[in-house]
Amino acid sequence: MSDIFAQAQQTLATLATESPATPEALETFRIHYLGSKGVVKALMEEMRNVPNERKREYGQLMNSLKQQAEEKYQTLKSGFEAQADNAAGLALDLTAPGEPLPVGSRHPVAVTLNRIVEIFTRMGFSVADGPEIEDDWHNFTAMNTPEDHPARDMQDTFYVVDAPGMLLRTHTSPVQARVMQHRKPPIRIIAPGRVYRNETISTRSHAQFHQVEGLYIDEGVSFADLKQTLLYFAQEMFGAPKIRLRPSFFPFTEPSAEMDIWLGMDTEKNYRLTKGTGWLEILGCGMVDPQVLENCGIDSKKYSGFAFGMGIERQALRLYEIGDIRLLFENDVRFLRQFSAAM
Ligand code: PHE
Repeated sequence: MSDIFAQAQQTLATLATESPATPEALETFRIHYLGSKGVVKALMEEMRNVPNERKREYGQLMNSLKQQAEEKYQTLKSGFEAQADNAAGLALDLTAPGEPLPVGSRHPVAVTLNRIVEIFTRMGFSVADGPEIEDDWHNFTAMNTPEDHPARDMQDTFYVVDAPGMLLRTHTSPVQARVMQHRKPPIRIIAPGRVYRNETISTRSHAQFHQVEGLYIDEGVSFADLKQTLLYFAQEMFGAPKIRLRPSFFPFTEPSAEMDIWLGMDTEKNYRLTKGTGWLEILGCGMVDPQVLENCGIDSKKYSGFAFGMGIERQALRLYEIGDIRLLFENDVRFLRQFSAAM
């Protein structure tokens, strides 16, 4: 009889040293100890051969054997399950800190545009919009640039093959025509947006860039109004100490001018940016040509107005002292992230 006790003790001791290392080994362990033909069951069946006075002792031995086998099995089983979940990425730890959600930042071109819009809305301008795929009439003809006009050469663009007469607008000036066609003076709008040029012809580094158009039409609008408006803008935008208007030519304004702001040449950067002149050109402008007013149904004897068109990229470079315009279009977040706090 001591045999069976020794056997049970031995089983208990062996059980303590078992450590199945894989789910398969654990299953073997379960069948061996806890299965319907397992050792625990077999040893329990020996109970009837145990003399009455030792049955209690044997029962206790069996209990701890069964309990320990079961405990070991459960612990290892949950361990393997957790491992499998981890591997599948399913483990859920409710106490872990959350994944940070990346918050985007505004593009420097957008920040610059917002500033421009903000300054002009303060002066009473409202924002107008027009299509990027424009028709020939609004982009060129209405703006006093008929088909054979040499000024078209400077603004070659992309034409829509399936839709003759449709093109990617070369400037925001067609919005002038659209607004004049549908509104009565006084008109005071700015029109920001994307414009396109054929880069093999234009000197721009990109086929696509951004402009803001301005248009003011009322009775008695003069060149002095244009100059004062642009001076105010330059001072608000850049704190520019002075501006300069150089005579220029656009088919849709007469007289026409280009506006430079004074940067000076005291730094290497300004020297380079202004090509050694101290002046940086930022826009084209002029008094709206009476012919353009007439083209768009406005009485040029009663009304006069001014218009301007400015590039945004160049102003962004100046504002943030960015050395290379290509940085604006490479979409490198390490670069773009720097402007999040700007506005
Ligand atoms: N549309 C002109 C350009 O793109 C700029 C301009 C706008 C000039 C309005 C005068 C008046 O170069």
